[in-house]
Amino acid sequence: MRREDITYLGAGPAALPTDVLAIAAEALQNYQDTGLGVAEHSHRSELANNILNSMKADLASFLDIPSDYEILLMQSGGSGQFDATIYNVVNIWVEKQRQKIVKEQGDIGEDALVQELKKKVDSELRLDYLASQEAVRLLGPEHVNIASDARKVNDGKFGKIADESTWQLSPKPAMVYMCENETVDGVEYPAFPKVLEPKGTEDDYLVVGDFSSTILSRRIPVKDYSIIFFGAQKNLGCAGVTGVIIRKNLLPPTLPSTSPTLLRKLGLPIAPTVLDYGVTAKNNSLYNTLPIFDVFLAGQVLKKLIATFPDKVDGQQAVAQKKADLIYGSLDAYPNVYKVVPETSVRSRMNICFRVTKGGDVDEAEKAFLKGAVERGLTGLKGHRSVGGIRASNYNAVAEAGAEKLAAYLKEYAEA
Ligand SMILES: Cc1ncc(COP(=O)(O)O)c(C=O)c1O
Repeated sequence: MRREDITYLGAGPAALPTDVLAIAAEALQNYQDTGLGVAEHSHRSELANNILNSMKADLASFLDIPSDYEILLMQSGGSGQFDATIYNVVNIWVEKQRQKIVKEQGDIGEDALVQELKKKVDSELRLDYLASQEAVRLLGPEHVNIASDARKVNDGKFGKIADESTWQLSPKPAMVYMCENETVDGVEYPAFPKVLEPKGTEDDYLVVGDFSSTILSRRIPVKDYSIIFFGAQKNLGCAGVTGVIIRKNLLPPTLPSTSPTLLRKLGLPIAPTVLDYGVTAKNNSLYNTLPIFDVFLAGQVLKKLIATFPDKVDGQQAVAQKKADLIYGSLDAYPNVYKVVPETSVRSRMNICFRVTKGGDVDEAEKAFLKGAVERGLTGLKGHRSVGGIRASNYNAVAEAGAEKLAAYLKEYAEA
């Protein structure tokens, strides 16, 4: 099978542009005529630093990341960031409370401080989640509030986003966590939630956004978020590197790391050093060995995007929208054959999830649909194992011609 015969629509890892892979293949063997490949050079070399800094600068430029935000590159994957956000937000929350107590009451001594903080932890520390709830495992249910459970508004399934008026946010949560695009069922927030918009006051929500499956595909209102994270393996590069965009005033020196002793006394979890945003920022993402090849690959994807789209992410967003419209249009044209899973208003542009209902036997219809797809070079369409169905992932490396090929097959299958 040749690469050019395949349109890969898998949900992640995703396809990468072939010309970028050609550059990467060469760099893996001999980078810049050094006789050594990019994955073999020291992560502390000048060459590695240049790769890292230029990737960060290109990411900032492509997404228009404001200068009061820091970019961190880490390992851990998206799942590691589920935990990292909790450790770091708890640290930020404790440090803010500690500074407040010291400001109001002066130096009250270590024991009294711990007592005051413990009272606050017990009565006030809440992390709000819109759907996911990793925090229960790390902190216990008493500190976690599911402000809106997408599954409850749609008969136990995702597929809808409950109206903001029904969200039950805590009075002053340590964070509000949202997944901007839910990859399994193809549900995407059409816009930043109004209720979470910052007003420039002390009471603004600290919003954390998981952008693993939409990064580089749409403009992010960065200022609405305090922390944004994403795995690289869908639109940016390969698995192994994860990006974090964080407001600088949440990092040292404004908010130094809470001492492990204090956290222990408060019964709160201590971040593994490699998941500590403060440590990562202080070391320009080089506290430990960063996978420089992964950063290089992501950097090359960014360079290609910047060269392709003079209007940066807006240009890519228009293409992503056009491809998604084409595919959804073909599905909607045959309502007796295809049923799109999520509600129209929250349909993901990246993960297009649908069922094939032709003939009444969904399992049989989907088997036949997938078989025909593979015969035509359309691969990776099987839905997530937890929900079944079909999922066409429309990531950036899927060319417009690939989306057209899928649309043509949807028509052909429906009309056969
Ligand atoms: C939105 C989203 N967040 C997090 C993850 C988990 O990422 P990882 O597999 O890198 O842990 C995924 C995985 O596909 C995802 O789609």
